[in-house]
Amino acid sequence: MGACTGRHSKLHTRPSCTPPSPFPVKPYYITTAIDYTNGRPHIGHAYEKVLADVMARFQRRNGREVYFLTGVDQHGQKVQKSAEKAGLTPQQFVDEVTQHFTALWEKLNVRFDGWAATTDERHKKVVQAILQKLHDAGQLYKKSHTGFYSVRQEQFLTDKERGPDGVFGEEWGEVVELQEENWYFKLSEHVEWLKGYIQSHPDFIFPANRAKDVLNALEGDSQDLCISRPLERLSWGIPLPFDEKFVNYVWFDALTNYISFAGYLADEVGNTGLPSFEKLWPADAEIIGKDILVPPHAVYWPIMLHALGFPDEQIPKLVVHGWWNVKGAKMSKSLGNVIDPDQLSTTFTPDGLRYYLMRDIATGQDSDFNEERIIMSYNKELAGGLGNLLNRSINMAQKYRAGKLTPGGYDDAENQALRQTVAEAVPSYLENMNSWAIHEGIAAAWKIVSHANAFVDSTKPFSLAKDPAQAARLDSVLYHLAEALTHVTVLLDPILPTAMKVAREQIGWNLPEGFVFSDLKWGLLADGHQLGTPVPLFPRLELEAPAA
Ligand code: MSP
Repeated sequence: MGACTGRHSKLHTRPSCTPPSPFPVKPYYITTAIDYTNGRPHIGHAYEKVLADVMARFQRRNGREVYFLTGVDQHGQKVQKSAEKAGLTPQQFVDEVTQHFTALWEKLNVRFDGWAATTDERHKKVVQAILQKLHDAGQLYKKSHTGFYSVRQEQFLTDKERGPDGVFGEEWGEVVELQEENWYFKLSEHVEWLKGYIQSHPDFIFPANRAKDVLNALEGDSQDLCISRPLERLSWGIPLPFDEKFVNYVWFDALTNYISFAGYLADEVGNTGLPSFEKLWPADAEIIGKDILVPPHAVYWPIMLHALGFPDEQIPKLVVHGWWNVKGAKMSKSLGNVIDPDQLSTTFTPDGLRYYLMRDIATGQDSDFNEERIIMSYNKELAGGLGNLLNRSINMAQKYRAGKLTPGGYDDAENQALRQTVAEAVPSYLENMNSWAIHEGIAAAWKIVSHANAFVDSTKPFSLAKDPAQAARLDSVLYHLAEALTHVTVLLDPILPTAMKVAREQIGWNLPEGFVFSDLKWGLLADGHQLGTPVPLFPRLELEAPAA
């Protein structure tokens, strides 16, 4: 190894003098927000995890090594309160709630590689090490603050929280003037750096237009960040290593999960069983909802990393998705309109729910959960479109040719057109999926499904079968259908992993080890290929759409 040439601060111990990663290409590191363990998972949580899982599966099939981290945010005031109410210790409470999340991810086939639970001792050690480093570098200071405090929301209020009449609204409950000592992080010292970073890195946030929300929020006077809570007010948190009278503010703790569970400072704090930070970092996609972009992920987080000495090229990328609403309104316990993903995946199958969640929203925009549309997407598209195509294609091949495919020498314009649709669908799918337009990626694959269904209608294999002179044409039609379907089972695999595996079993074609999207080419099924037995892939559901 030559001399270290990297410019790096005293705090951050990794850059260019560390040995090169043993992996020639950095793995694709994808994370999601970690969910608060203060209630049951709802459809918004499920959407985010499925989105991450789809992208992780897509990137793997794209030939990338992938590390997918997700988890639960278990500390904080709300958890402490809920545990008290339930007569449980906070740990008992979060353990119980966490089970509902892990069970749902299992049911929905969300296959992550790392689990970030913030009560994990390894995480706590990294949070404390980071706090100590920032403290030693003079980035933290203690001060007393007098201000208006909402007893109900348990936070200090600023003038921003006042209503147009200058009064704090009802939502804040009782507001008292309070004096409290706390530890602060010198956030404001780094705001100019952050503005410059955002302006010079248009790919920091996806969709790019969200960056202006961040820049707007950075206008005007910037405040330092209070990163502690006095023990008497909150005990369910990570103690500050340099002042035992305080625990860490939950957002500082939670944000750190993206590096603590990626192996940051593992040697220094004695953590084992985690990935190699050198290999993984920075994250290629930290998937979050729009509500937690400003300030936590786009302000606190990059500044925390910058203050720790992470160079600009090691600031992670953010993918910001929109919200699922219900009849235009935000979901809330008080409105009683919270949509339960567990129940939906029982009714529509896990793949049916995954499909709906991916096809009915554009990443970055909001969508409205709609029961009629989930029924339609299952019955019309999955059962009627894809399932029916697979079923009738294999059925006909079984009936007319005992399931044996012989492409033969026949060709015509109709066959060519179907091949053309397949050839065009693949790059369009890849381009859309690569740019987070999952719904458009699905639509690209669906062009094959629609064309193949129309191809059955126009070539009429059942008529061809009656005419021995059309035998070669019938062979080619059956072959084209099976081959087009095989392509579909690969393209839709990240979205419908269970159903597409079953479909491939019916086709009699297993994905070869290491098969990647660029291996997709016409002719996956060999001459003489034997198809399997058709079984309805998505049995139709007899469901009534709800009364409006
Ligand atoms: N614990 C924090 C995140 C810490 S990340 C270091 C949190 N938890 S949360 O449970 O409230 O939300 C988890 C994720 O679900 C967030 O990305 C949030 O935006 C997302 N969603 C919550 N409700 C949602 C919808 N209705 N629709 C889509 N996603 C939504 O925030």
